[in-house]
Amino acid sequence: MQDWPGYFGAVMGKGARETLVAALDAFAREGFTGGLAVDVAAGEGRDTLELLTQGWRVVATDGHPDAFSFLWPRVPEVLKPNLTAVVVTFADMQVPHCDLVNASFALPFCEPRHFPALWSRIVAAIRPGGRIAGQFFGARDSWASLPDRTHHTREEVLTLLEGFEIEMMNEEERDDPPDVRNPKHWQLFHVVARKSGRW
Ligand SMILES: C[S@@+](CC[C@H](N)C(=O)[O-])C[C@H]1O[C@@H](n2cnc3c(N)ncnc32)[C@H](O)[C@@H]1O
Repeated sequence: MQDWPGYFGAVMGKGARETLVAALDAFAREGFTGGLAVDVAAGEGRDTLELLTQGWRVVATDGHPDAFSFLWPRVPEVLKPNLTAVVVTFADMQVPHCDLVNASFALPFCEPRHFPALWSRIVAAIRPGGRIAGQFFGARDSWASLPDRTHHTREEVLTLLEGFEIEMMNEEERDDPPDVRNPKHWQLFHVVARKSGRW
């Protein structure tokens, strides 16, 4: 397993991901606030905290048992009843019916053999008019060669999102400076998409 606790400590206190902010803005423009969100692989909980603060109920999942010891102490007492935290792997996680699935820098860490079933559960769980927000990693990303990762070409992402109206699909491609991580090429798709159909 990667050093996820080291990662949780390093990013603790950072703000919500831009994809989540965009999805929440889109809901707000529709006059919808305070639904149920599933935060997939929530980590130390930057996005879960934003959702809770904006009045959402959240089911946060993560495969690492330490993730929620970083999150719970930062949840205001009054909001704690609105959070359910579940330690579960991608392979085993159930996805409750919800308004939003938030998967920030999460799905690429799912093993390829478990991805299709996980994706089907995610799509089935989102109500019509609900949203998915998060990142896919591209096929040109350095980590695409790791056997336990799931990466997608742009065309494959578009295929996954059939049945959704794409509201954001920002592609980012860059190299980390060698002194940061040597060598690391990033190819990312930042996505927000609204499930078709009427609620
Ligand atoms: C890059 S972090 C993203 C955390 C958070 N969503 C964020 O935006 O910062 C990836 C997360 O995936 C989780 N993870 C890795 N492998 C997993 C697995 N097989 N099942 C469930 N979660 C897993 C890690 O524990 C970690 O919290």
